[in-house]
Amino acid sequence: MPARDTILVTGGAGFIGSNFILQWLEATGSSVINLDALTYAGNPANLASVEGNRRYSFHRGDICHPDLVQNLLHTERPRAIVHFAAESHVDRSIASPEAFVRTNVNGTFNLVEQARKYCSTLNEADRSSFRFLHVSTDEVYGTLGPDDPAFSETSPYAPNSPYAASKAGADHLVRAYHHTFGLPVLTTNCSNNYGPYQFPEKLIPLMVLNALEGKPLPVYGDGKNVRDWLFVEEHCSAIRTVLERGRPGETYNIGGNSEKANIDVVNTICDLVDEMRPVTDSGRDGNSRRNLITYVEDRPGHDRRYAIDARKISRELGWQPSVDFEGGLRKTVRWYLDNSAWIDGVRTGAYRDWIMKNYAERTEI
Ligand code: NAD
Ligand code: TYD
Repeated sequence: MPARDTILVTGGAGFIGSNFILQWLEATGSSVINLDALTYAGNPANLASVEGNRRYSFHRGDICHPDLVQNLLHTERPRAIVHFAAESHVDRSIASPEAFVRTNVNGTFNLVEQARKYCSTLNEADRSSFRFLHVSTDEVYGTLGPDDPAFSETSPYAPNSPYAASKAGADHLVRAYHHTFGLPVLTTNCSNNYGPYQFPEKLIPLMVLNALEGKPLPVYGDGKNVRDWLFVEEHCSAIRTVLERGRPGETYNIGGNSEKANIDVVNTICDLVDEMRPVTDSGRDGNSRRNLITYVEDRPGHDRRYAIDARKISRELGWQPSVDFEGGLRKTVRWYLDNSAWIDGVRTGAYRDWIMKNYAERTEI
């Protein structure tokens, strides 16, 4: 049976998935089907602008359900699966790890298993061009010391949080389905993303919103943990590149060559918010949002440093990041300032419960 010129995206209502779908519809002529369970992190409003697009369709459903996934594959006959769906927040994986094992490990297992069965129904040409692209993280490699070389594709796996361990488990299953069954898989391991539509539980949007509202800015530990930041649209373009030209069975590290200590990120956010929304009433805290920074109890097992060596994807596929951190952050802060309706929509009762749970018991240090 022939495949159609359409791809199946899982988790497309989340932060990176929705940016990917918007970019895909803009940059290609091919269709996209979005399978998403709409957990707290999934938000159809991210895709409101393409709701009427004939090349876009949405299916609400759980990647863990074998029949649902198999039926969707047989009805829609995609030429590729791009798998974003996951539980993605490290602090939540510490508070409640079970959902991470379910979606990230069992859900990925179900997808590769159903993809393997679906592939066996394709004609030879479509089977050889089919791809399963698994979107993963640099956190599977564990943590780096200050002078260690950045993570490359051959760095050993050493996940430290339940989130990272569940993503590592998923990566291993994807690899095994290539090695054992010949499923044409591609895996990408990317560093921290930031940009529009990121749920405000993660560092950058949380700090932007708290700074805007004059609330404390909770920096974990000494604030010197380092992350390697990449603007989300760049991650999406890297995924499209790997999907088009990546070699089945290979993994590609994706990063922004932009290592920053958390405290430097938070200071820059404060300065951008001050510039775009100056404080008129100087009040107790003076004029700078920097005065809102509050050091709080550290995250248990907090990885000290992540850094990505992205030379392989550059050398083999010609992809390189082009947005610098300052430019990307400026665009991001501007987006949150201009999209207050989106913000009101995501800050529901469930969001407020999480903020209470994560921060109320974190003592100031
Ligand atoms: P997110 O939490 O914003 O979105 C996850 C999406 O998956 C949501 O739409 C949610 O509804 C959906 N989902 C969750 N469980 C599901 C299930 N069982 N069935 C169907 N849908 C389900 O996550 P994100 O930040 O967009 O991350 C997307 C992917 O990229 C994840 O696999 C993550 O591990 C990876 N990644 C993220 C980053 C980052 O900085 N955010 C960096 C590297 C890799
Ligand atoms: P986060 O956005 O949760 O991403 P990850 O843990 O996957 O890297 O956190 C980024 C960094 O910011 C991480 O070192 C933890 C830190 N952090 C804070 O200091 N305060 C916060 O309130 C949050 C959410 C994160």
